[in-house]
Amino acid sequence: MTAQVVLDAVNKVYGARNKNPIYAVRDFSIRIAPGEIVALLGSSGCGKTSTLRMIAGFEEVTKGEIFIGERRIHELPPAQRGVAMAFEGYSLYPPLTLRENIAFALKAEKLGSAETDRRVQEIARLLELEPHLDRYPSTVSAGQQQRASLGRALVRKAELYLLDEPMGQLEPQLRAVLRGRLKRYLREHGLTAILVTHDQTEANALADRIAVMEGGVLQQFASPAELKNAPANLFVGTFIGEPPMNVYRVKPAISGGRLSLRSEGEELFGYEAGAVSDEVLGLMARQGEVVVGVRPSDVVVGSEGAPAEIVSNQWIGDQTHLESSFGGGVIVATIPDRFAARVGAAIRVDVPADRLHVFASQGQALAHGRRVAANGAGA
Ligand SMILES: Nc1ncnc2c1ncn2[C@@H]1O[C@H](COP(=O)(O)OP(=O)(O)O)[C@@H](O)[C@H]1O
Ligand SMILES: [Mg+2]
Repeated sequence: MTAQVVLDAVNKVYGARNKNPIYAVRDFSIRIAPGEIVALLGSSGCGKTSTLRMIAGFEEVTKGEIFIGERRIHELPPAQRGVAMAFEGYSLYPPLTLRENIAFALKAEKLGSAETDRRVQEIARLLELEPHLDRYPSTVSAGQQQRASLGRALVRKAELYLLDEPMGQLEPQLRAVLRGRLKRYLREHGLTAILVTHDQTEANALADRIAVMEGGVLQQFASPAELKNAPANLFVGTFIGEPPMNVYRVKPAISGGRLSLRSEGEELFGYEAGAVSDEVLGLMARQGEVVVGVRPSDVVVGSEGAPAEIVSNQWIGDQTHLESSFGGGVIVATIPDRFAARVGAAIRVDVPADRLHVFASQGQALAHGRRVAANGAGA
């Protein structure tokens, strides 16, 4: 039932004939394996919904092609694409109960009433909607409307499920529960899905691979682990991860194999010969200036490293966020335990060489720890 989904250089321009056309999506290409769950992740306005609506057929593709298996679906009317979509804005039929709304999605499948009931019940149980099935959309909460909208997409048989911020209206605890159930449901049935979200926790929890978008442009399409360990550029590096990666613009100075990363003549980080791989040292030597990135969880607060001064110390319930003034800016560290030190206290911060991310001054990744990045060597 499921097939590979391919987006090939898909573009969306709104008002192409207007004086100021809006370029919502640019040359977007991805290949999704059958049964894969993919998240489109990015901040508001980056083109996620436009991409989904083009796949569903509610927006015309300005340029490019979309395939499910061998079928070129971007030329077909929405009903013939084999795609089920849950919308960001619910769009339930007001005169129908939630039960009727969900069942309505099954109309085209021409099932008997017993099978329709069974499928509606199964989805209602999955989404905790059973007690509300006989109520009308206007009499239930936004979260319940949203779950009914999700149910209406999931209840259908389709080759591809498109879910636009499907849990944005839910309270955090229910969201976490339903996230787990949704993933299990998609997996058990071997369904292929594209989920749109601006919430990286949701993307990490649900998706096999995440497409990070910014300004209508795909920045990186990779697994959650790869996005964290080997971000393709500075945007992905700082967008993925909470709190965000610390970044510093530095000039590398190398002598006798020792690497010194300096800002305005002062050393921020220094590494003895051998700590940094020869390959990485070599590419740093060719750059006048680089941006180095350090994840807060990789900053070691202790008796070694560069001097810093605490500006805030927050226990957030399961870890400490420590912010310190450092090298003309700040450095944020996360510590698993409570950290007993007051604002103003002097500390030392160290970043192991194998935790350092290096980006060219224009942003593309050069190295991650001892590894040269995929496109790093040529940069
Ligand atoms: N129907 C439309 N007409 C004109 N511009 C639109 C329309 N829909 C979206 N846009 C614009 O396209 C860009 C991408 O929007 P959208 O795809 O909704 O992003 P996201 O879902 O990531 O928030 C935004 O600049 C938005 O204002
Ligand atoms: Mg959107």
